[in-house]
Amino acid sequence: MNPPLRSDNNSPVHLAGYRSAELLPEMDSDRFALLYGRSDGMREVYSLIDKVAPTDATVFVVGESGCGKELVAHSIHRLSLRATECFVPVNCGAIPANLIEAELFGFEKGAFTGASRVHKGLFERAHGGTLFLDEITEMAPEMQVRLLRVLESGMFNRVGGHEEIPVDVRVVAATNRDPMQAVDDGHLREDLMYRLAVFPIALPPLRTRGDDILLLARHFLAEFNADAACAKTLSDEAMAELRRRPWLGNVRELKNCLQRAFILADDIVGAEHLAPLDGLESERSSLAGRLHFEIGTPLAEMERQTIFATLDHCGGNKKKTAELLGVSLKTLYNRLTEYAAEAPIGVGGGHA
Ligand SMILES: Nc1ncnc2c1ncn2[C@@H]1O[C@H](COP(=O)(O)OP(=O)(O)O)[C@@H](O)[C@H]1O
Ligand SMILES: [Mg+2]
Repeated sequence: MNPPLRSDNNSPVHLAGYRSAELLPEMDSDRFALLYGRSDGMREVYSLIDKVAPTDATVFVVGESGCGKELVAHSIHRLSLRATECFVPVNCGAIPANLIEAELFGFEKGAFTGASRVHKGLFERAHGGTLFLDEITEMAPEMQVRLLRVLESGMFNRVGGHEEIPVDVRVVAATNRDPMQAVDDGHLREDLMYRLAVFPIALPPLRTRGDDILLLARHFLAEFNADAACAKTLSDEAMAELRRRPWLGNVRELKNCLQRAFILADDIVGAEHLAPLDGLESERSSLAGRLHFEIGTPLAEMERQTIFATLDHCGGNKKKTAELLGVSLKTLYNRLTEYAAEAPIGVGGGHA
């Protein structure tokens, strides 16, 4: 008897297979893999993901904070031959420098005081799967050397170990810095950058994605509705307001903003439910002159938020703002010009 030519859904062949039907690339739909959006910029990203996913190439995802780098990495994994193995995300900026080596590569028994048994690192735990190294530029240069070695040789040593261990891991790395600038500033080793730059994917900021903003807003609203068994909708004014915002915090900010609006609104989410300017203004006033940053927030982002908050605090008076921030008026103007160029639509809500 001939074996069936096509495997049924329960056969091991199917389980070990990839590209499950729900994730099949549909270039014309509202989403691709785990990503929503149909703007030209996102379609370019989808086509790159589609090409690179089935290979074992190292991918370098570059884009502003909150624009979906981790979701891109996860989508690559889900569309790869490794889809049934683990996807292991690591935020390199959140692990203290003295711990990252042991975290990534593990350690041998007796490697240091307290190392009472062998510990497998993230590379070993991701064996067969995909390791997502987020904020790679925050990793110390010595660690970047070690990482490059694993990428080139597929071998590594545990801390305190002499044995070379082979490992089969696909690496996707990400940064929200400009890679060339990061090399110039000494945050990224040039040799590692070139290794990663084999397949870069540049993720466009949300403010350049046109109607994707509304598409994403409806998607998140549908999720919140499903979770809470509600049927809340967006008013026309809310949609206009969403389209107007610069979304400096990208998709993350949009999602947070809508979650808040969803809670506040009864049946219809209106413009009045959308917390103004970066979703920070209300927090700004309630925290009376304080800003809150998560560990690992890029310095450039903290600078931007601090400048806008101080400008707000000074009622838009730039001279006073510059004085408070301890920079020249010229520096302040330069920054504001940069921000305005990045987000032409109404950035700074009338500060400029
Ligand atoms: N294209 C997208 N479609 C749906 N959700 C998205 C998209 N891009 C980002 N998100 C969501 O926005 C948030 C931030 O995305 P993330 O991938 O963590 O961004 P980054 O790694 O660039 O900071 C997450 O909740 C993520 O699920
Ligand atoms: Mg991230």
